[in-house]
Amino acid sequence: MNYKIAPSILNADFSILRQEVEVVEYAGADFLHLDVIDGLFAPNISFGPSVVESLRKHSNLIFDVHLMIQDPGRYISDFIHAGADMISVHAEGNPHLHRLVYQVKYYGKKVCVAINPATPLTAVQHLITDVDMILLMTVNPGFGGQQFIHNVLPKIKELRELIMNKNASVDIQVDGGITPEEAKLCAEAGANVFVVGSYIYKHESSEDKQKAIADIKNTLKAID
Ligand code: DX5
Ligand code: ZN
Repeated sequence: MNYKIAPSILNADFSILRQEVEVVEYAGADFLHLDVIDGLFAPNISFGPSVVESLRKHSNLIFDVHLMIQDPGRYISDFIHAGADMISVHAEGNPHLHRLVYQVKYYGKKVCVAINPATPLTAVQHLITDVDMILLMTVNPGFGGQQFIHNVLPKIKELRELIMNKNASVDIQVDGGITPEEAKLCAEAGANVFVVGSYIYKHESSEDKQKAIADIKNTLKAID
């Protein structure tokens, strides 16, 4: 399986954000997961397109922008112009999810649909052949450092089966409360892209942050 690590900077030190990105890029991260939160779709307020644009100049990572905002269609083009390579939009509160998916694809960018822990797969299963990735939240959106919700595991398994039955090649991303232990459970259930925030950024030193990424990578390597 082609496993990918997507560090989330939500719990990074925003006063030294460039270095916080460089350290995970150097450690072999695949994506940079950028959590955009507006205080309406989810509690907490994070950052907007200008932060993405500033970081874009200093990183070659794939920028994976996770929009946790109301009416995300208003900002898709702004985030793409700021440097997003992939945009995730949530099913919740978006009755025209198919249209949003094609709004992202119009720009030739990768697209992902996301669902919260309590949302059933039926909200996204008819988009499997339209998207590059499906994000199954393993915490309720808003904050880093929350506890992983184990009840999402059967949903991961079921989604992997649905994707296989359609012979599609779609990544399954998990986001929230991921440590090596949870990464293993999610990988065994069928996930292959792992968002990791506080497990990396709770550490002060660059060495410890890099070791945290290595821990996750080694755990996943042992599964193959
Ligand atoms: C939650 C965000 C996550 C989160 C990840 O709203 O989507 O990306 O910050 O952080 P940890 O790994 O600390 O749960
Ligand atoms: Zn996220």
